[in-house]
Amino acid sequence: MTTLGETSAAAPSDAGRDEAVRHLYVHIPFCPKVCPYCSFYKETSDRNKTARFLEAVLRELDAQAAVLPPIRPRTIFFGGGTPSALSTPQLEFLLTGLRDRLDLSELVEWTLEMNPATVSLEKAALLRSLGVNRISMGVQSWEPQLLAVLGRVHSAEQARRSYDILREAGFDNVNLDLIFGVPTQTPEQWRRSLAQTVALGPEHISAYNLTYEEDTEYFQRFARGELSQDTDADAALFEMTADTLADAGYEPYEISNFARPGRECLHNLAYWQAADYLGLGPSAFSTVGERRWSNVRDTAAYNDRVHAGVVAIDFEEAVPPGTRRAEAIAFGLRTNRGVAVETLRPWGEQVAEFEALGLLRITEARRVLLTRKGRLLADTVAEAFV
Ligand SMILES: C[S@@+](CC[C@H](N)C(=O)[O-])C[C@H]1O[C@@H](n2cnc3c(N)ncnc32)[C@H](O)[C@@H]1O
Ligand code: SF4
Repeated sequence: MTTLGETSAAAPSDAGRDEAVRHLYVHIPFCPKVCPYCSFYKETSDRNKTARFLEAVLRELDAQAAVLPPIRPRTIFFGGGTPSALSTPQLEFLLTGLRDRLDLSELVEWTLEMNPATVSLEKAALLRSLGVNRISMGVQSWEPQLLAVLGRVHSAEQARRSYDILREAGFDNVNLDLIFGVPTQTPEQWRRSLAQTVALGPEHISAYNLTYEEDTEYFQRFARGELSQDTDADAALFEMTADTLADAGYEPYEISNFARPGRECLHNLAYWQAADYLGLGPSAFSTVGERRWSNVRDTAAYNDRVHAGVVAIDFEEAVPPGTRRAEAIAFGLRTNRGVAVETLRPWGEQVAEFEALGLLRITEARRVLLTRKGRLLADTVAEAFV
């Protein structure tokens, strides 16, 4: 078995050796309650596993730092699961451990995901004091009936109070997640949720179309015919989202992401520009140079393997430069920067065809962008260039 210090998966290509790793993701796999639609790797919080898990994350970081190019993050993203499901002392242990190990002199953005049920002033103030400067909170809806349909653990009032707490703690860069296309949701309910969100004035709004993901309770109910999806109705909700948020001054910089000017999520932009990143924790992906790997989707196995000094990787592959270029095109098309006409020259005919269909447009600055209609078919369009 490969030991942590000698993993081939963690070894960067020669080309990448003198480049620092600029983006760090840490996956916290705990949630106060599991939502029936969600396929992120997570489990309900278990106090008995947590201390061992926190030590494992720091140990994995030490092991990767020993074999990777220097890790000097510009962005850090604590996602999940629900990082805020950790207690204040647990967060202090983990963030302090990270600060002790990393050169953060070039850090510009440190995001942490929160569930409204797990926000307190003490916790928020600690995060702010340790360098977290962006919070992403899952509100999903302001409608009590839809929060129940989604199996959320918090009320709308609690989400509102948590938002106020984040502001009180000094966070001036806050994202709120919303979901549309929820079973029984009416256009009027979505209009109200958008309006209430805009009224609070977060710097960033993520508005996701509900997807029925395998391995979720929703997927099983969908397969049994108990739940259904109306793509035309979802397209109309997407149009309403784009119009409402544009009117309120939010730039649609990616299909599901809207930001006040200058408040785009830099960590996600780095993913979409196909930058290198290191992911720690169970199920986390990493791409450095020409290698990509992911960790085992099992917290107990992750803990055991890392503590035994063994890699927690369960998948790895080579990503040649051609593949990374193709990924950069597919991701780039999802953003409002688009892709340079020059880059898509080998697919000239395809671009012309999509342009004629009204799915792509070419700007004066010679960039290829998805039209609003194209955004609804983004995956299909992107596939043509991979
Ligand atoms: C890791 S969670 C965010 C933080 C926290 N766990 C919470 O739920 O409050 C990331 C976001 O993904 C979105 N999401 C999860 N499952 C989804 C699905 N099946 N379809 C659309 N969006 C989904 C939700 O908006 C959720 O807030
Ligand atoms: S949506 Fe958030 S709180 Fe719900 S299960 Fe997924 S990660 Fe956990």
